[in-house]
Amino acid sequence: MKNYDNVVIFDHPLIRHKIAILRDEKTSMKEFRELVEEITTLMTYESLKEGVATTEIEVKTPLETCKQQVVSDNSVVIVPILRAGLGMVNGIHVLFPSARVGHIGMYRDEETLEPQSYYCKLPEGIENKLVLLVDPMLATGGSACDAIKLLKARGCKQIKFMAIIGAPEGVSKVAESHPDVDIYVSTLDRCLNENGYILPGLGDAGDRLFGTK
Ligand code: PRP
Ligand code: URA
Repeated sequence: MKNYDNVVIFDHPLIRHKIAILRDEKTSMKEFRELVEEITTLMTYESLKEGVATTEIEVKTPLETCKQQVVSDNSVVIVPILRAGLGMVNGIHVLFPSARVGHIGMYRDEETLEPQSYYCKLPEGIENKLVLLVDPMLATGGSACDAIKLLKARGCKQIKFMAIIGAPEGVSKVAESHPDVDIYVSTLDRCLNENGYILPGLGDAGDRLFGTK
């Protein structure tokens, strides 16, 4: 895959370790859910090195008073792409407990692999926030691209997209369609199979998170 200025592929041993367990077909639903949350927290820490609004406050230590930067209240909105993106929300709330949450519902048509949008509810004022759009799987890129279009249509200007596993096809599609969006992917897999599943991947993230199969 070509290099894109707006794409960061994490290559961190702690994340690689957790993804190895996540992929394993023997990993239980409970452990899968916990790993998705933990990986998301690690990704959030890295992804938000830049772009978070901060405010200067004065702090009195036992020795003197100093000026310090704190994260501005209500500056981040989390938007999971349903269903599987829901599994990432708690992993961000650990760091931003008061972040509000919008929801975008999308499913892929099994034949065409085209995303079908079925739900969208976003917090008021989202257009002035840093939006963290999340979905564990970035396969063809159709769902992420459409979700980003929806957010932009609502006026969102600062969007970061985080996916745990990306296929080169999907990463390229989102990077090229939305060069103004920062894209963070924990690991880049080999390719898609004929059914649009990521290889080696982890199977269907929604089914593994929620036990639907
Ligand atoms: C999965 C995944 C993404 C999408 C990725 O959702 O969670 O939203 O597929 O594929 P794409 O990059 O080719 O669009 P799915 O459609 O299976 O819906 P679900 O989360 O409700 O199971
Ligand atoms: N959605 C998933 O859940 N897994 C894939 O491999 C591709 C799309």
